[in-house]
Amino acid sequence: MEPKSDRFEKVMDLARRRGFVWPTAECYGAVAGFIDYGPLGAMMKRRIEDLWRQLYVIQEGYYEIECPTIGQEAIFIASGHVKGFSDKMCECPHCGEYLRADHVAEGGGVAGAATMTEEVLAEILSPLPCPSCGEILGRVGVFSFNLMFQTGIGPGSQRKGYLRPETAQGMFTDFTRLLRFYRDRLPFGTVQIGKSYRNEISPRQGMIRLREFTQAEAEIFVHPNEKDHPFFSRYANRAVPLLSIRQQQEGLPAEPMTMEAAVRGKVIANEYVAYYLAVTHEILTRIGVRKDRLRFRQHLPDERAHYAEDCWDAEVLSERFGWVETVGIADRTDYDLRAHEKHSGESFMVHIPLDKPRTEVRNRVVPDMGKLGPRFRGKAKSVADALETAEPGPDGVTIRVGDEEIAIGPDLYTVRDEVVEVRGYDIRPHVIEPSYGIDRMIYMALEHAYDEEVVEGEVRRVLRFPPRIAPVQVAVLPLMARDGLDMTAREIATDLGRAGILAEYDDSGAIGRRYRRQDEIGTPYAVTVDYQTRDDRTVTVRERDTMCQVRVPVSRITEYLSALLSGREEFPAAPA
Ligand code: GAP
Repeated sequence: MEPKSDRFEKVMDLARRRGFVWPTAECYGAVAGFIDYGPLGAMMKRRIEDLWRQLYVIQEGYYEIECPTIGQEAIFIASGHVKGFSDKMCECPHCGEYLRADHVAEGGGVAGAATMTEEVLAEILSPLPCPSCGEILGRVGVFSFNLMFQTGIGPGSQRKGYLRPETAQGMFTDFTRLLRFYRDRLPFGTVQIGKSYRNEISPRQGMIRLREFTQAEAEIFVHPNEKDHPFFSRYANRAVPLLSIRQQQEGLPAEPMTMEAAVRGKVIANEYVAYYLAVTHEILTRIGVRKDRLRFRQHLPDERAHYAEDCWDAEVLSERFGWVETVGIADRTDYDLRAHEKHSGESFMVHIPLDKPRTEVRNRVVPDMGKLGPRFRGKAKSVADALETAEPGPDGVTIRVGDEEIAIGPDLYTVRDEVVEVRGYDIRPHVIEPSYGIDRMIYMALEHAYDEEVVEGEVRRVLRFPPRIAPVQVAVLPLMARDGLDMTAREIATDLGRAGILAEYDDSGAIGRRYRRQDEIGTPYAVTVDYQTRDDRTVTVRERDTMCQVRVPVSRITEYLSALLSGREEFPAAPA
């Protein structure tokens, strides 16, 4: 059974009540794994995505692309998803619920269940209770279930398609065009934010495990032997809590380490991976993830994909769910490009020009046309062309002409040493991939921001969001909806809106109640127009966290709030 957590219930209750997150199509009975973002949730999501863009698109210079969410089968055969993108499941013999076998095992205290075989999992599950009905599972069959949603493209469904399980594949299949866009130079990157779909077996973890969710992924294409990030110094001194393979094996906790030290000490494989660990640390802490509830865990050898050079998860601590993988950062080598190259027939090699051309002695195969002509007749030219690019051994070489394989003896060609000028060489790029789950980021931002305290005998619930992700940035409240206070408040709200600040005008109910409502939705500042405003043209600005207030001239209010929201100015500290 999942442990009950008060905080999760409280956060989700607030999120539903105040219009952050709702179950989808509730009127028909909601289906697990789908959520709607309400007015405030959709705005908060946009703000988090924009912060992500600020770093990846504006700072890093990786342009965003947008590919379809449905892909033809060939893409996912090449990527390996058709064959291998599955989780192990079983069916409870008592209540008929489908269960994710490794999660049930882990719930029963078994570590490393995700990498176990079906047979071993079946053994392990038999004494454990079903998380749904509580009955002991007994002997159950465990089998693999592919997580992709399948669909048909066009009438008659002759063409199989899938809803994409990650945004990444579009960035690989567009590689050749991207390379040209970036003027044939490495390194370059591209990003995509959009929906991904996974038919999760039993998504019972709120916003953490969804069947339709948003990913923000970057694919950074680099030279295989040049994995020093050109701007590494930006983050070299940033200390990030790391839980390396060694620390996990020795049962040690995560320890902060600078990215410089981690790369030099070979804890992190290269500067690129370290750089994006640090960028991720920056993004997560800027959306309000608490530093003491964030760590970066390195994949253990048995959980890391066989082709990956290094792989880390940013894990965020949730009271109910424990450490939750929220971002994955991997050096995927050339696995993806190689796979698409093989299946599509297109070359994904990049030509690297040398700064200075150099000379090299190379073997050149010179076909003997006097012998090839009579022997191969009409095919002789094709045989000669194939021979010129072949690498013969002492006994000759086998070449391919069309569908035919032809063995050619050493009497049909000569090999000469030739001095050639080399102006460049071809490589297949490696891929560094930071992959963010936006919905998990939103849940963690909500959970970590949630706070309650007793103020004047009443519970005050507050979302202590950093101003940049708060859906409503300023509340504008006339003390009374009359005597011209409402007019002035509306004028202030309009001015703030013109400056690009989302200001909510609210004149309903007692002022204390209005403050509480704004605290609950995380609005960082409230402007109150009161009777003093009529005398001296000043208003109060109240800060959400301290509830302190300062008076500011109406003529300065837009400039002052802009400065507060952008962090250029700080709200005066509360008197000691
Ligand atoms: N292209 C790599 C990739 O997709 P992943 O670890 O499977 O890697 C990346 O997914 C991120 O997407 C995860 O760290 C997580 O935040 C998010 N994610 C994955 N499955 C999810 C689900 N069912 N519901 C919500 N978020 C999910």
